[in-house]
Amino acid sequence: MPVESKYQPHDMVFRHLGPTGLKVSVFSLGGWLTYGGTQKGSIVKECLQTAWDQGINFFDTAETYANGDCEIEMGQALKELAWPRDEYVLATKIFFGTGRKEPNTRGLSRKHIIEGLKSSLQRLEQPYVDIVFAHRPDRATPMREIVEGFTQAIRNLNMAYYWGTSEWSAVEIMEATQIADKYNLIAPVVEQPQYNAFHRERFEVEYAPLYQQFQYGTTIWSPLASGLLTGKYNDGIPDDSRFANNKDFFKDTVGALNETDGKAKLEKVKKLKAIAEKYGATTAQLALAWAAKNENVSTVILGASKPQQIVDNCKALKLLDKLTPDVMDDIEKILCNKPVPRATLGRERPGWC
Ligand SMILES: NC(=O)c1ccc[n+]([C@@H]2O[C@H](COP(=O)([O-])OP(=O)(O)OC[C@H]3O[C@@H](n4cnc5c(N)ncnc54)[C@H](OP(=O)(O)O)[C@@H]3O)[C@@H](O)[C@H]2O)c1
Repeated sequence: MPVESKYQPHDMVFRHLGPTGLKVSVFSLGGWLTYGGTQKGSIVKECLQTAWDQGINFFDTAETYANGDCEIEMGQALKELAWPRDEYVLATKIFFGTGRKEPNTRGLSRKHIIEGLKSSLQRLEQPYVDIVFAHRPDRATPMREIVEGFTQAIRNLNMAYYWGTSEWSAVEIMEATQIADKYNLIAPVVEQPQYNAFHRERFEVEYAPLYQQFQYGTTIWSPLASGLLTGKYNDGIPDDSRFANNKDFFKDTVGALNETDGKAKLEKVKKLKAIAEKYGATTAQLALAWAAKNENVSTVILGASKPQQIVDNCKALKLLDKLTPDVMDDIEKILCNKPVPRATLGRERPGWC
């Protein structure tokens, strides 16, 4: 029986996930602190449906989000939405566990990679995820065991198609890749790093050799710096915002907004607003388009507590062409935080980082 297609790409832009043949929408949707956390039930389904209606085909979660409840909520929504499985891309992440304290219920031992992923799939009610990420490096487990664990999950157990890293150092990613080459194991293909206008160094400088040597992909997180880049925190902390709903977690971030560094960030957000308005856009749309403009970004993972945020944020697509080199320069002058690239010592080579 032919499968009835439920997906319409609309104006979405697609990029390959690093060196793979997999294509992901340049904007995607994740569930950290929202789904299973502050948002449960029908609103989760509404958010996923809204994303889908904007052409988003990639969804991100993790075993640790809301101690497993994010996977349960997103899994339930996906079940009810009943999209053909080959029309969307799903990722989860293993490392932090689900809040239990036993020694083997977290980390990247072969045991937790396999058992953690099995439990994630049960919560998601899915036979496999497309991508499984190592949510952090595990410096207490030999790298060969980690690479073998993910290879086993993919090659022997069919629980995922690809694996990636999240907040690993470039050196660790290179080590994993070399071990995979040497022992005929599967190498990671994508990193999930924080990247936004206020957090640039690792993405732009440390990872540069990974893009050049391996075409390593990236699914970037907190593109709005948890909402700071929307301008919603310019005049204090609104009720029912992320910083208000997660006071303990963001205590230092909120405290810093009253210090020199934080005040300077808020000033920059105000100046970015002026540029955004020139193009009939919001500050959030400008910040998202700025991130998506970087060709080393495979997908910008949006976070959204409400469907309308997804609709608004996806309008950033319209800005991509308007961010000419001159406009990017104007933004750069406001941000004034461009990381210094690696020294070439007189040995420049176009296209090489
Ligand atoms: N690998 C990792 O270690 C890691 C870490 C963090 C996140 N992630 C992934 O990346 C995803 C995105 O990160 P993030 O959620 O931090 O992204 P973000 O875009 O920086 O922040 C999203 C939050 O900002 C607020 N917001 C978004 N659009 C808005 C708008 N138009 N107007 C006003 N407020 C708006 C919403 O919070 P409120 O409405 O509640 O204020 C929303 O939940 C996560 O869901 C997760 O999948 C991965």
